[in-house]
Amino acid sequence: MDQSKDIFGLDSKYNIDFQEVLRFGNEKKKVARRRWAILAKALKSPSESQPSSPTDEFSVRRISSFMLLKTQELHVVPIMSPENQYCDQFKKRTWYKYSTRVNGTDYFINVGHRNRTFSAEDLMGFNNTGNVCIWPSEETLSYFVCSNLGHFLNKSVIELGGGMSCLAGLFVAKYGNATSVTVTDGNKLSVDNVQTTIKCNEFDIEVKCHVFKWSSFEPSYQYDVILCADCLFFDDARADLIECLWNCLANDGIAYIMAPERGDTLDKFILQSESRGFICKKIVNYSTVVWEKRLALLDNCDYNDNIHYPVLIEVTKF
Ligand SMILES: C[S@@+](CC[C@H](N)C(=O)[O-])C[C@H]1O[C@@H](n2cnc3c(N)ncnc32)[C@H](O)[C@@H]1O
Repeated sequence: MDQSKDIFGLDSKYNIDFQEVLRFGNEKKKVARRRWAILAKALKSPSESQPSSPTDEFSVRRISSFMLLKTQELHVVPIMSPENQYCDQFKKRTWYKYSTRVNGTDYFINVGHRNRTFSAEDLMGFNNTGNVCIWPSEETLSYFVCSNLGHFLNKSVIELGGGMSCLAGLFVAKYGNATSVTVTDGNKLSVDNVQTTIKCNEFDIEVKCHVFKWSSFEPSYQYDVILCADCLFFDDARADLIECLWNCLANDGIAYIMAPERGDTLDKFILQSESRGFICKKIVNYSTVVWEKRLALLDNCDYNDNIHYPVLIEVTKF
């Protein structure tokens, strides 16, 4: 602005410079318009006003599936044994059939979703992330399991941190011809849900399901195969998880661990595991079908490889 005039465009003799007044008015309008634009953007999409965090649930949930699982709501509770049909635990859930097709063959598991909303105690207690949904890493791990059923033949298998479905472990139990399958999580609500789910599916073997926290140092059985999906981003629990893997994995066993990079959390897991004595093989392209789904998602502006794409790590002792 011309320094000889005041903010209203008046010069020292109080003559009005209309050009100056118009310029000032336009400048104010522009600022106001800019402010409204920022506010509208924030209201329309809160994510645009915040940087996405690789471990923040909201950022991760922007891509909720790789479309490898078909979900169909079941209108009749798929109870296997008639004596269970009057139990409330079945009615308190909505039932879905999760199916996946691999090389022309369909594989499915019925999964219950709790209808009840979570109490404050549920939310503030042990980590609740496994009760939110079936995460894409569990989905891609399930697809990997169904594509490689031979890996589980005559093996003892455990899933760690399997959340509300332990879906990958249940696919092994139903189709993998394993000698034993145990599915676990540290969260009691997740485990209750999986125990109910197990009663609504047919298995040829007994499927064990219990609460298992990675920090518990109970002398544990050593398994041929360990499955684990989306459990690497907990900074506080990573060392416990690695120690638990070490205690639970047989010397000639293998752990299939699926997780997105999520910042540097996956690399931290690999580094810490290698210093514990593990050999880690990071496999980005482990399935042509999953890879094609990834390529299709690259055009989606909500998709971020680092946050969303589940990478496979094969972990062995020797
Ligand atoms: C992001 S969820 C993944 C759940 C499931 N694997 C999926 O991908 O849908 C992480 C899971 O790890 C479990 N978890 C976290 N810390 C744990 C711990 N210290 N011991 C056992 N489980 C734990 C949580 O209860 C939760 O179910």
